[in-house]
Amino acid sequence: MNKKKIGILTSGGDCGGLNAAIRSIFFRAKNMYNMDVFGIKDGTAGLMQRPVSAIQLSYKTFEGYLLRQGGTFLGSTNKGNPYKFPNSSGEFIDRSKEIIDGYHQMKLDGLIIIGGDGSMQILKKLAKDGNMKIVAIPKTIDNDVGATESSIGFHTAVDIATQALDNLQSTAASHSRSMILEVMGRDAGHIALNAGIAGGADIILIPEIKYSIRGLIKKLNEMKKNNIQHSLIVVAEAVKKEDGTRVLHKYMDGEKRLGGIGDYIAEQLMKKTDVECRVTTLGHVQRGAPPTASDRILASAFGVYAVDLLNQEKFDRMVAWKDRKVIDVPIDEGISTYKNVERKDSLVETALSLGIYIGDNI
Ligand code: F6P
Repeated sequence: MNKKKIGILTSGGDCGGLNAAIRSIFFRAKNMYNMDVFGIKDGTAGLMQRPVSAIQLSYKTFEGYLLRQGGTFLGSTNKGNPYKFPNSSGEFIDRSKEIIDGYHQMKLDGLIIIGGDGSMQILKKLAKDGNMKIVAIPKTIDNDVGATESSIGFHTAVDIATQALDNLQSTAASHSRSMILEVMGRDAGHIALNAGIAGGADIILIPEIKYSIRGLIKKLNEMKKNNIQHSLIVVAEAVKKEDGTRVLHKYMDGEKRLGGIGDYIAEQLMKKTDVECRVTTLGHVQRGAPPTASDRILASAFGVYAVDLLNQEKFDRMVAWKDRKVIDVPIDEGISTYKNVERKDSLVETALSLGIYIGDNI
């Protein structure tokens, strides 16, 4: 029988645990099935290059540190939908065929894509249009892919945000200040809620639950009555201003990204009270950090299962973590179930029971 040849690509925003997943795919493919494994560079962009930009992976690739390193050594991209790809004159052109041709030029028996819901949506369409055989592994620090209880990268981001709160606590207490920590998570408040509980926050603001500056002030005043002069506030990047507008940061290239709500909260509190605030925006530290043990374990388990799916020619599936084990679901199902924080979630009740302010009227 001919040796099988498989590819791996990482797509979308990077996170802790991607290298661990690539490593696990390689070991399973090599040790169990003696497959040849190729890492495609820079996500789908590598398949647009001619020759295709890919490297053959070997045992040597994984000696040493990769398991422990954040990001993805293959590179990734979270810009440029290939169906509407911006060219140098600012027009949008369809480059999907180049990716499909690149895949077929490599003569792959299957491709494992490690990505979030956006990447999976695009790759699923490419696979359908171009007869590409894919299996998907969910990764996102936002943890919003509903079909899996956990996505690669989430635990690392929560851990980093928790460490930041641990570090902020002492300086908050030293100066009797309110320290505001802005975290990522896009439209889901999972990082803020989890880290806020783990890091002993007094106030957690998430996009799913309405807050008011009045509510925040009430909470800070209650703390003062108990002679507590300092506080920790965690705010998720997609929390809106009181008037309902989003706070966005515009980059040089015209891209707009969430960011800056922490400054708004600080400004409001300092305008309306005598509380002194300082803001820390955690940003990409949450993505580039070395993966936690649980992210390395999840990534390793996902990698093994994904290779088994390819070997069984079960394509168009996404691996997921459910009830303490790996399962697989159709990619469509994986991306159609968005999960943000809901009022009925245990962690919302936990936060409330700990006396954390998370919003009004809940
Ligand atoms: O989806 C992952 C994420 O880190 C979000 O939490 C964040 O809003 C966004 O990506 C940042 O994207 P970029 O790396 O393009 O700034």
